[in-house]
Amino acid sequence: MLLDLYNRPIYNIRISITSKCNLKCFYCHSEGFNKINDEELTVDEIGAIANLAVSYGVKTIKLTGGEPLCRNDIVEIVRSISSIDGLKEVSLVTNGQLLKDYASRLKVAGLKRVNISLPTLDAIKYRKITGGGNIANVLEGIKEACDVGLNPVKINMVLLKGINENEIDDMISYSARAGALLQIIELEPVRILPKLYDEYHEPVDELESMLLKRAKNVYFRDDMHKRKVFELDSTKVEVVHPIENSEFCANCNRLRVTCNGAFKPCLMVTGNEVEAKIYLKNKDYDGLRLAFLKAVMLRKPYCLK
Ligand code: 5AD
Repeated sequence: MLLDLYNRPIYNIRISITSKCNLKCFYCHSEGFNKINDEELTVDEIGAIANLAVSYGVKTIKLTGGEPLCRNDIVEIVRSISSIDGLKEVSLVTNGQLLKDYASRLKVAGLKRVNISLPTLDAIKYRKITGGGNIANVLEGIKEACDVGLNPVKINMVLLKGINENEIDDMISYSARAGALLQIIELEPVRILPKLYDEYHEPVDELESMLLKRAKNVYFRDDMHKRKVFELDSTKVEVVHPIENSEFCANCNRLRVTCNGAFKPCLMVTGNEVEAKIYLKNKDYDGLRLAFLKAVMLRKPYCLK
């Protein structure tokens, strides 16, 4: 097991495999990556990173974007990494627009679970938030993901003040009916203008108190940021509370890979990424290993800044 300088193990890597997206959500943090990137990591390069990470004890890999399903070779990517010995699971996060067509093939390729972004159940609001998205595609994608046995199917709802905070009950009922879990995420001030952040950021404390009253059980995920999970009668609701939460940072066990092939120690910090594309291109796996270890050693809990 690999520990960083704050004694935090690295169990998870989150690889951005494209900067392309078929939506334009106004609040999107783009995984903390600022530029459009034309030169995506190849299947082999993603495999090299995954193999290296697993050799150091990484247990889970999440693929992200942009929108991962915008890559034509997404099934091949999943297939190539899901068979790595020692890896517990490959998952991905998607906006769901193309999921209906892909869910079954992804499942066969070895995908275990999926997170689907759905900030609202209202078709018109959805179109506005996402810059033109069609909610019917997402709902069909969620159904298909559940039907083909991706498990869990988790719905990612970023909490937006004045936009969707009145939809919590509806989202809980919808998730329960769909056979999905609900994950409510506090808005993070990454790549969005401070003015927009101030306008739409809603702290999650009140939401947590409300869920606490209704939950039959509450527990903390020990594999991920000590996130709180509220077990309701109908489904489970997880709250992601990254802002001003030292517990969240103290229990972060994730390293990121940007879509241009750099290791990124923390979503919230820009400028300390460690370039790795050159080593991937040259198949210099010692160089890659040193870049990976350097990035791990640069990890610092954001709340200590
Ligand atoms: N703050 C919090 N979560 C965000 N996501 C995207 N942008 C933000 C943000 N600014 C979430 C989306 C998506 C996941 C990749 O990150 O809901 O599901």
